[in-house]
Amino acid sequence: MIPDSFIQELLARLDIVDVIERYLPLKKAGANFVACCPFHSEKSPSFSVSPSKQFYHCFGCGAHGSAISFVMEYAGLGFVDTVHELAGNLGMPVPQQRPDERLPQADAAPLTELMARAARYYKEQLKASTKAIEYLKARGLTGEIAARFGMGYAPDGWQNLAAIFSDYQRKTLVECGLVIEGEGGKRYDRFRDRIMFPILNQRGNVIGFGGRVIGAGEPKYLNSPETPLFEKGRELYGLTQARAAIREADSVIVVEGYMDVVALAQQNVENAVATLGTATTPEHIHKLTRLASRVVFCFDADTAGEKAAWRALEASLEKVADNKALAFLFLSSQHDPDTFVREFGPTRFREVVAQAGSAMDYLIQKFRTRKDLGTTEGQSRLLHDAKLLLERISAPRLRAQLADAVARLARMTPSSPREAEAMLGLAPIRRSNSPHAINSNATAIYSRKVRPAPSTIERKLLKILISHPLLATRLPSEVLEEGRDGTEALLALSNAVAEGGLTGEGYGVVVEYFRSTPHETLISEVLSELAENEFDEESIEEVFTDTVDRLREAGIRHEIDALNIKNKSAGLAPDEVRRLQQLLTLKKTARPATEA
Ligand code: UTP
Ligand code: MN
Repeated sequence: MIPDSFIQELLARLDIVDVIERYLPLKKAGANFVACCPFHSEKSPSFSVSPSKQFYHCFGCGAHGSAISFVMEYAGLGFVDTVHELAGNLGMPVPQQRPDERLPQADAAPLTELMARAARYYKEQLKASTKAIEYLKARGLTGEIAARFGMGYAPDGWQNLAAIFSDYQRKTLVECGLVIEGEGGKRYDRFRDRIMFPILNQRGNVIGFGGRVIGAGEPKYLNSPETPLFEKGRELYGLTQARAAIREADSVIVVEGYMDVVALAQQNVENAVATLGTATTPEHIHKLTRLASRVVFCFDADTAGEKAAWRALEASLEKVADNKALAFLFLSSQHDPDTFVREFGPTRFREVVAQAGSAMDYLIQKFRTRKDLGTTEGQSRLLHDAKLLLERISAPRLRAQLADAVARLARMTPSSPREAEAMLGLAPIRRSNSPHAINSNATAIYSRKVRPAPSTIERKLLKILISHPLLATRLPSEVLEEGRDGTEALLALSNAVAEGGLTGEGYGVVVEYFRSTPHETLISEVLSELAENEFDEESIEEVFTDTVDRLREAGIRHEIDALNIKNKSAGLAPDEVRRLQQLLTLKKTARPATEA
């Protein structure tokens, strides 16, 4: 593991202009540098690099980030390799935190260290288990591939992990999902007698495991629960290993299983990742479409596969851009990618992937095969249903094409795609609908841990604090109360400032601070908005106090609503009545509610 402090130091010593210039020629334009964007094709330069912010941003495609992100995206390197490469150029040795060497006592060890240590243990146990090795061999896997994916074996037995964790009772072992606490406080290892697949985040840290029974047994796969490190709706299995191949092919294959990823890699199909037993989320789509221009989903050709395809389609509506192709591949019912590639070989697999139909054709196909299209009611139902889906699409050309196809299915003859959109009752696409705007509500439907959508006010405050970190120290504590809707990112940001975690200058530091955290997407989007619209220095004080006031008022309204609802259902306790009265007075003195 690379310590966070080293990342901060590295960023402080790097100059993003030097780094990017190694890969593409930059031209000076005022305080910034510009170039034609390397991440999408264009004729006039909309890619801008800011030395003062240590940040790049493309006004055309929205690509943005730190010096580290640039090298990752441009060279297709993983986070760890990128850090080594950049540090190497500066002659800085990269310090390693060996998880097994400096494991602090009791609960002080960060969860990532516990996970790293467990992964090492499982790996060693695999070497010692003929049974596990035989199983992997029988599935066509070599030791080389097993090592590449850090695969391991959790031996049979209830408390094997006690051998590597001197304090088996520590809270954090349960918190990171390695140990289960049963009734009466009895503890035991979650994974027993299973082949272990470590799940890595972008930083290369182990954040979870999938464990497969050897042979038959239920459940076939046991996975880490959602923990502070591991949120299934955000992660993709195999992404670290696949990154370079994805970049090179400019295409990524999304499969359902751990084994599919590993088996494909074994056959030199290296650009595959898997969702983790969950439906595809908008966050997945966001991550994938930033990596490659073509994303091919493989589904089983059964009802479960159809359902999964529909979920993936829905998740992609907000995120997909005009220049990104999404395709669906349905393998025949006897096959999954693992068995397919082993039976027919990688060339044939790549062929069927290349021939996969587009997700949007799939959508039209679904509409076309509706039974009631011959009736007027059926046609208006189609228009209604299609409108609900299409209004979530942010890519203008794509939406217009789909609207045209739908209108024709409803027996209408639009003279242009624009007219078709009007026939469906679709309003013009707003800027805030753009692929880079977050839609946390949509995300929340899919991720089990519902993270409430930050309001416009909170986003604005985030922007202010990112551009002027010192203001964070002046945030009144009540606007940051833990658990208040949508303020988690604000809290994390102000903690970072308070702890000196954002010591460096510029946005690049912010990007790296939040990499692989739950706030990564939001912060990244806010940074992108900020890069396009800076605050006016003169009025920043005023904007800050005003925004804080609005947030405070929103908090008051929110608490009043909650108490009113409770009053209607369960009634209020005396102190709650007093609180409500107090809030109502506070609200009167505040200004009327207005949107930021
Ligand atoms: P599959 O049942 O398709 O398994 O589950 P598979 O990948 O083909 O596995 P093998 O080939 O039999 O070893 C696909 C994915 O669904 C999740 C896992 O993430 C798995 O990789 N899953 C499946 C579970 O989480 N638990 C289960 O019991 C089964
Ligand atoms: Mn399988």
